[in-house]
Amino acid sequence: MKVGIEDICFYTANYVLDMAVLADVHGIEVEKFYQGIGQVEMSMAAPDEDIVTLAAAAAKPIVENHDMSQLRTVLVATESGIDQSKSAGVYVHNLLGLPSHCRVLEMKQACYSATSALQMACSLVARQPEQKVLVIATDIARYDLNSSGEPTQGCGAVAMLVGANPKLLEIEPVSGLFCEDVMDFWRPNYRSTALVDGKYSTKVYLRSLKQAWQDYQEQGGHSADTFSYFCYHQPFTRMAQKAHTHWLKQVKKELSAEAIEQQLEPSLVYNRRIGNSYTASMYIGLASLLDNTQENLDNKRIGLFSYGSGCVAEWFAAKVQPGYREYLRTAYHQQLLESRTAIDYPTYRRLYEFPNPTDGGDHQNPHETTGPFRLSAISQHKRLYEKTSS
Ligand code: CAA
Repeated sequence: MKVGIEDICFYTANYVLDMAVLADVHGIEVEKFYQGIGQVEMSMAAPDEDIVTLAAAAAKPIVENHDMSQLRTVLVATESGIDQSKSAGVYVHNLLGLPSHCRVLEMKQACYSATSALQMACSLVARQPEQKVLVIATDIARYDLNSSGEPTQGCGAVAMLVGANPKLLEIEPVSGLFCEDVMDFWRPNYRSTALVDGKYSTKVYLRSLKQAWQDYQEQGGHSADTFSYFCYHQPFTRMAQKAHTHWLKQVKKELSAEAIEQQLEPSLVYNRRIGNSYTASMYIGLASLLDNTQENLDNKRIGLFSYGSGCVAEWFAAKVQPGYREYLRTAYHQQLLESRTAIDYPTYRRLYEFPNPTDGGDHQNPHETTGPFRLSAISQHKRLYEKTSS
């Protein structure tokens, strides 16, 4: 029996900052952002959006198009959690009106945890093939102003329905794993922005890729030649290009620049315009790959590399199912990106600095999101969500 992804859908905030605006303010040549780190735009969340509203919005089209009566588990992966105790998934579960016979939890290991959630979902379905699992990765990536990480911010969520005999992708059982206790990127509980040793983090990412691939081979994984397309974790899209070059060197393959671009470029299209969405980034990349590859991918094998700082990494493989194109949401995804509102620098600063109240008072949020759910208020330390008419 095959187990994998039946449906995939992403969502991102409706404000967008062109990287040229940031480059101009910082007195940096825009080509450093456009080419050097491979980011053209970044999505910015409105004051009434958070990881819960993004997650629920990503999953809504899936929930509306599938029979949810066999949904038994909801796994929400995030590293920008909004509560130390209550899972973001419980809010999402309520906003989506999901069945009450569900186990719902939040998973954390930096940008990696969505992959752990996906693997757990596949294991649950393998045990009970009639059940469905909803996996959602959702994050708002924030670094300090004027730090090297600032141009690599962004936000987004991606939802995946996992089941038996999937319509889109079979997730193959063999994985290559790597874990090492390192301080490349982290966010202590008292901080709202991440701390990062930028250059070091890119080195650890590449080292982890090497180790995870090696383990994949030792576990009996497929040979390098059997992979047609690739999707890497994308903290910024240039990182994925560096990763693929690194991997090609490791497997001793020499390809033309065109061939390399063909294998990787489709996975970078959306993230180049969204920015980093931490846990969601690789899976938005996967949606991008499926939506933007011209060639029919029926029966093609995709290599996926998931990396979460700290660090845990995993190399695994997905096989595209024949007829997958019928089930894609390409037009919806493209329209989401096109319909965002461009913001100027003062607006970016207003959104970045929007207060996160901690005094237990009654704080109503302005209605700004164009999405289907909003964080309407934080009152008496409780987050209050509502559906909009969108
Ligand atoms: N035109 C074109 N390219 C230019 C340029 C110009 N005018 N000026 C500079 N560049 C190029 C540089 O040559 C460099 O290219 P190479 O990397 O190929 O050498 C590139 O732009 C970046 O410039 P810098 O080397 O000056 O690097 P930076 O100071 O801008 O920092 C960074 C880059 C360290 C990655 C920084 O963006 C950062 O700290 N990001 C956050 C951390 C991160 O994303 N780490 C990735 C691994 S960790 C992870 O994956 C988990 C996660 O999600 C965070």
